[in-house]
Amino acid sequence: MKILVTGGTGYIGSHTVISLVNSGNEVVIVDNLSNSKIQVLDRLYKITGKKIKFYKTDVRNEKKLFAVFRKEKFQGVIHFAGFKAVGESVEKPLEYYSNNLESTFTLMKAMKTFGVRNLVFSSSATVYGKPASVPIYEDFPLSTTNPYGTTKLFIERILTDWSKAEKGMNIALLRYFNPVGAHESGLIGEDPNGIPNNLVPYITKVAVGKLPFVNVFGDDYDTPDGTGVRDYIHVCDLAEGHVAALKKLETNPGLVVYNLGTGKGYSVLEMVEMFRKVTGREIPYRVTPRRPGDIDVCYASTEKAKAELGWEAKRDLEQMCRDSWNWQEKNPDGYSK
Ligand code: NAD
Ligand code: UD1
Repeated sequence: MKILVTGGTGYIGSHTVISLVNSGNEVVIVDNLSNSKIQVLDRLYKITGKKIKFYKTDVRNEKKLFAVFRKEKFQGVIHFAGFKAVGESVEKPLEYYSNNLESTFTLMKAMKTFGVRNLVFSSSATVYGKPASVPIYEDFPLSTTNPYGTTKLFIERILTDWSKAEKGMNIALLRYFNPVGAHESGLIGEDPNGIPNNLVPYITKVAVGKLPFVNVFGDDYDTPDGTGVRDYIHVCDLAEGHVAALKKLETNPGLVVYNLGTGKGYSVLEMVEMFRKVTGREIPYRVTPRRPGDIDVCYASTEKAKAELGWEAKRDLEQMCRDSWNWQEKNPDGYSK
């Protein structure tokens, strides 16, 4: 199939492009490079041996996006493009609502105009808010605590309404848990701007000596060691989940919703310990107050994705940490060097 990948030079998008190419799809990327680097394309070429067609375009730019659709004739779309930093979304809500919602509206219009009926959307476990229990099932109540999460929830609702109105539309809402790791080549990986917000890129920056210690946000949570527990998933497993979702859409299911996680939770201290093991370096840390909005425990039920997509995560925590470290060690300054 010929697939448009919006946000395809970003962290999850770039890994998904590899899985799509490896499973025989033709890929076209649209990205405005607001949070990614053009060097990703050369790295993708090294890994796949294919020149991936790329348009430096903002998905909100209707004229340009329509021109891409007119020329390329897609059979499906995976929509990664959007802003994703929770803290920043609290500071700049308008930018988040504008970028995440308007890009989706423009994309929907293009899909309708050009008769493209298969869409995979990047949602997040953040739409479960503070779950009443774990594991989290897809039919749990939804709520959000920050503008970023609200954009995801709004888009899920908008796409749900659209799928009811537009017969023949097939849409997969994929709720990612905590994507980490990198391609085993160490050629592509997560390259956050400035000081990372998320745990794993923060730990790898400490391990490589660019930051002095890890701040452990609270050790008084209701968990075995008191630190927050999350469902970390290797980005390559996540990428393969998108290929499985696209296959599912070929069966004309209408709108479907899946968690993409491993079903296992690890604490902050377990993560620090695993990085100590795979890097062979001490990872200094200190306990600081809780980060506002954080929850105790979050991990997925993986039953539905396994039963209906035939997909489950294969890579374990050690591999996630080893591949994150491999990327960090080979690219201490990300893509810029
Ligand atoms: P990322 O920032 O690395 O990738 C997003 C890409 O979209 C970037 O390359 C950016 O330049 C591009 N982009 C942003 N706005 C655009 C626009 N208007 N037009 C064109 N391109 C645009 O983020 P990621 O980690 O790869 O996440 C991909 C998607 O998955 C996002 O929608 C994110 O919200 C969602 N998600 C991510 C995580 C995570 O932990 N990384 C978790 C849950 C959901
Ligand atoms: C965060 C986002 C969430 C988003 C997800 C994936 C917040 C509040 N939530 O989830 O919406 O979907 O990323 O992008 O930002 N931690 C530390 N020290 C750090 C960083 C994190 O102790 O320096 C702890 C956190 O308290 C948490 C765990 O590590 O218990 C994981 O944190 P993080 O990687 O930021 O992911 P989430 O908070 O789960």
